[in-house]
Amino acid sequence: EWTMENFIEEQVAAIRERVGGGKVLCALSGGVDSSVAALLVHRAVGEQLTCVYVDHGFMRLNESERIVKTFRDELGMNLIAVEASERFLAKVAGVSDPETKRKGIGNEFIRVFEEEAAKLGQVDFLVQGTLYPDVVESGTATADTIKTHHNVGGLPEDMKFELIEPLRTLFKDEVREVGQKLGLPEDIVWRQPFPGPGLAIRVLGEITKESLDILRHADDIVFQEIKKAGLYRQIWQSFVVLPTSVRSVGVMGDCRTYEYPAILRAVTSDDAMTADWARLPYELLEKISNRIVNEVKGVNRVVYDITSKPPGTIEWE
Ligand code: XMP
Repeated sequence: EWTMENFIEEQVAAIRERVGGGKVLCALSGGVDSSVAALLVHRAVGEQLTCVYVDHGFMRLNESERIVKTFRDELGMNLIAVEASERFLAKVAGVSDPETKRKGIGNEFIRVFEEEAAKLGQVDFLVQGTLYPDVVESGTATADTIKTHHNVGGLPEDMKFELIEPLRTLFKDEVREVGQKLGLPEDIVWRQPFPGPGLAIRVLGEITKESLDILRHADDIVFQEIKKAGLYRQIWQSFVVLPTSVRSVGVMGDCRTYEYPAILRAVTSDDAMTADWARLPYELLEKISNRIVNEVKGVNRVVYDITSKPPGTIEWE
């Protein structure tokens, strides 16, 4: 009989058997897939698993701290957190082309990950949070041909180890269920999808520390308000995009302002292949707009993206 409990038990037994006394490595991204995969393997082989979390500096406000706290302190896993934001910022300095940005970040990610792996000595297995739809799609034309999707945890090419992919037969909702059963906190179980390159592809054009901070602050307000409105789970993704080549005139108090607009994007979707813009309540839009303009220095206007996919994409880069 197929039940979630049986699935977990069988996977844990199979992983334990396969790994034996070997050493296992996992790249944690903070997303639900890699988290659940890591947790299953941890349940099977405990201390033999080491997770590496590369903080590229393009995460949401306080997100990296929360990931480290969850996995290291609450779940008791071996976690190496690499703070590499300066490296990544240097890598994208002066880059405005979206694909060049993605490739730069993807390559740097692999480099940092390999450096950490090298410090661990012999590693026998690598955990990946591959899901059933990924298995089915691989090899066929997907959205990857439109944007090269750097999935954190992308395989370094010349590393010699076997793959452990415990979620290969599951769909997303099943992965969430497994995560819940394994004690993964709700905020990770229900986390909206977040692109590997993170906020770096949401600061349009060249990225500076300043523009990244502005975006991160505005994005956090949206995150808070969407959660508070009870819409976080229903909405596939909600976030802010910052077009740094655009400024508009505004007035604040007695002063004229000349600052960036914040673009609000919120979509509903089942699989990201198609998406519709979310019909957010006017009151919520008003709250978000007021808060961003009042609280985020550098932003004087909020616009809402009402484009579906297709013809738009979910992200702006
Ligand atoms: P688009 O913008 O193509 O996005 O409609 C579809 C889904 O993919 C995510 N996305 C990415 N994920 N690396 C990722 O890991 C990327 O470079 C990337 N670009 C887009 C996007 O957030 C949406 O869920």
